[in-house]
Amino acid sequence: MVDMDTLVSLCKRRGFVFQSSEIYGGLGSSWDYGPLGVEMKRNIRDLWWRDVVHLRRDVVGLEAAVLMHPRVWEASGHLERFSDPMVDCNACKRRFRADQLDDVPWVHYCPSRKDTKFEVPAGEACAHCGERRILCPVCGKGALTEPRQFNLMLKTFLGPVEDEAAVTYLRPETAQGMFVNFENVLQATRRKLPFGIAQVGRSFRNEITPGNFIFRTREFEQMELEFFVNPADTVDGQPADEYWHQHWIAERLAWYRRYGIRAENLRLREHAKEELAHYAKRTVDVEYRFAIGWSELEGIANRTDYDLRRHAEVSGRTLTYFDDERKGHVVPYVIEPAAGVDRSFLAFLSDAYHVEEVRGERRVVLRFHPEIAPVKIAVLPLLKKRADIVARAWAIRDELARRWVTVYDDTAAIGRLYRRQDEVGTPYCVTVDVQTVGDAEKGETGDDCVTIRDRDSMGQMRVPIGEAALALGRLLGGAEWATVAGGYPTQGAKGNHDA
Ligand code: GAP
Repeated sequence: MVDMDTLVSLCKRRGFVFQSSEIYGGLGSSWDYGPLGVEMKRNIRDLWWRDVVHLRRDVVGLEAAVLMHPRVWEASGHLERFSDPMVDCNACKRRFRADQLDDVPWVHYCPSRKDTKFEVPAGEACAHCGERRILCPVCGKGALTEPRQFNLMLKTFLGPVEDEAAVTYLRPETAQGMFVNFENVLQATRRKLPFGIAQVGRSFRNEITPGNFIFRTREFEQMELEFFVNPADTVDGQPADEYWHQHWIAERLAWYRRYGIRAENLRLREHAKEELAHYAKRTVDVEYRFAIGWSELEGIANRTDYDLRRHAEVSGRTLTYFDDERKGHVVPYVIEPAAGVDRSFLAFLSDAYHVEEVRGERRVVLRFHPEIAPVKIAVLPLLKKRADIVARAWAIRDELARRWVTVYDDTAAIGRLYRRQDEVGTPYCVTVDVQTVGDAEKGETGDDCVTIRDRDSMGQMRVPIGEAALALGRLLGGAEWATVAGGYPTQGAKGNHDA
């Protein structure tokens, strides 16, 4: 598994992710998505939206405001309960989550070794004196305060007066937008249960210990679905909420697999009773084997009728559904698959990262699924000094760019250009060479063919320009390289620009 420092450095160098406000020294745990990152992030959002909203008959979309009425957070329980226990070091003043202190290695000045400084592995006792950690795990000197509850919502003020009446919060989850609009959506769309409301948007949490690159940040993006079911129904002999919960667990796991994440790096984890959120009857996480270890990628919760009931109580509105069959009102249960865009980004990136040796040289290649890859095609001229080659390459790029994200690059020799595209995961390169355009001075006409090169196998085939879009369309649509290349001459070692 690739380590985090390697990913952070690749992301910066190739324009996926930059440290926020870097010229001012950076803002801790805040990240900006660069030219490639923004394309890849958009792909993740779009694929989720396509699969969870457009391709389904029972889900509609929503885009709620980030700033909501403060009473939303009273009703949801966030004001009272959305907090973590926090401790401070009285020497170095660092702040930690009390429940995560033993998850990190700790610094220890061992009394049995003349106060020699050691780093002791997470959760273990010192091998020399047998002491367990009681002081600050980072400086190893300061005592820690008693745990205090720290609310994770980011507070702000609306309007010109910064008093209590003006306090509101940046939403800590997108979910509440769906609950408070339940009635509006029901009336506008005349939906029958079960149906879902989906949203992609930014959420904010004043995390005590953000970090690990884009894994845990204070501003992040969520892709959440609230899928409302009738608790009085049964499906296949099971209560409807339990049936649909299981359905969404399987769906969401399959989604990550569909876009290339390897099965051995994904697993499901059932929440123990004592860790369930206050609203949940059952929660299962999809976990990914990140560089930091197995961690949550997405949570899929059965939130029962908690949210609609609470909003009805606090707002005084009736948030029910009329059950035609039973001729009565019910409060729907909610199944919630809640994923993070940034965490998915990190998982897709980590999983795609491969290093291999090609003819004695190190090749870094991101084996992205074509739908995740930020750039689908790179058009490369073999000789940038030949105006006719350059003009033809640009024309092909412009044509392909109408359908796919396609770039042009002539800033190095062809072998290096291929490696650069491998390193950012571009599935196909199209090369325009002397053979394509011919040589007017020598009276030679070109063959009007280009070379298409496959990122993964590095195979190359010669395709007429007029058929290139069709061949690329088949490849990007999932056809095997061998199948498509079978219809065209392939390049031997002589014409192979990789060689
Ligand atoms: N509405 C339920 C909810 O928000 P959650 O497990 O707290 O549940 C859902 O968040 C997903 O949002 C997580 O699985 C994760 O992918 C993402 N997420 C949560 N907090 C995050 C943070 N501080 N930084 C990045 N992603 C975060």
